[in-house]
Amino acid sequence: MGTLEVKNLSVKVEGKLILKNLNFNLKPGASHILFGPNGSGKTTLINTLMGLPGYEVVSGQILFDGIDITLKGVDERSKLGIVVSFQYPPEITGVKLGDLLKLCLGKTATEEFSQEEITKIEAFNLTRFLNRDVNLGFSGGERKRSEILQLIFLKPKLLLLDEPDSGVDVESLKMIATEIQKYIETTGASALIITHKGDILEYIKASYGCILLNGQFHCFKDPLRIYEEIKQMGYEECVACRIRTSEGWRNEQNNQRK
Ligand SMILES: Nc1ncnc2c1ncn2[C@@H]1O[C@H](COP(=O)(O)OP(=O)(O)O)[C@@H](O)[C@H]1O
Ligand SMILES: [Mg+2]
Repeated sequence: MGTLEVKNLSVKVEGKLILKNLNFNLKPGASHILFGPNGSGKTTLINTLMGLPGYEVVSGQILFDGIDITLKGVDERSKLGIVVSFQYPPEITGVKLGDLLKLCLGKTATEEFSQEEITKIEAFNLTRFLNRDVNLGFSGGERKRSEILQLIFLKPKLLLLDEPDSGVDVESLKMIATEIQKYIETTGASALIITHKGDILEYIKASYGCILLNGQFHCFKDPLRIYEEIKQMGYEECVACRIRTSEGWRNEQNNQRK
């Protein structure tokens, strides 16, 4: 479960070609780390995979667990078990976090959380936020913690995480990343995680990494190694080395150069 296959995917936003012929597979039970400078198309990729409006697939195919989802809407994709966490989680006035979490769990507002669920809420340090409107006045870290807990309660097969570590303090980062790792390990779900920092890799075990630069994938290899190389050399030079070590998630059936 949670196998995503992307073939020759090109995407336009507002008439401009942003993603250019991407080919990759996401493996079940594994985290895949996507690096890339601002504006390279990372959020575009995640939003396209989720099927959000405004992203025009001009060529290619997206398969999830063997089902062609290229033309499916966001609701159908979510029912198949795909979820997204936003780079900027929105505020939802009038909806209490506790009620939203119950909805994620398939409970009615009058049902109580189980002991296991309460323990999870405590692990995310969100108990005192249950009666507050979702994300309203939450700090960056609190928003991200609430967002990731909602996703975990939805029991997804594929997690698309857009910078889950941005604006997050070290303690919250550890909390979020440890829980993501635990979820992936115990359920066999897969994850595509966008990050600019390497800190998250202390807690999330990931063998698959790559760089998205100018809408194209480069440099499929160990994420920690990519991160060190980006720090030392920058994206352009890192991409130029052309050494690949993790062939695993590059879709070999296509003729991409790297
Ligand atoms: N709604 C939009 N209208 C016009 N351009 C957009 C829109 N969304 C994204 N873009 C452009 O697409 C490119 C990739 O954006 P994005 O996927 O957000 O990059 P990243 O997440 O890697 O920083 C950028 O040049 C951005 O300005
Ligand atoms: Mg982005």
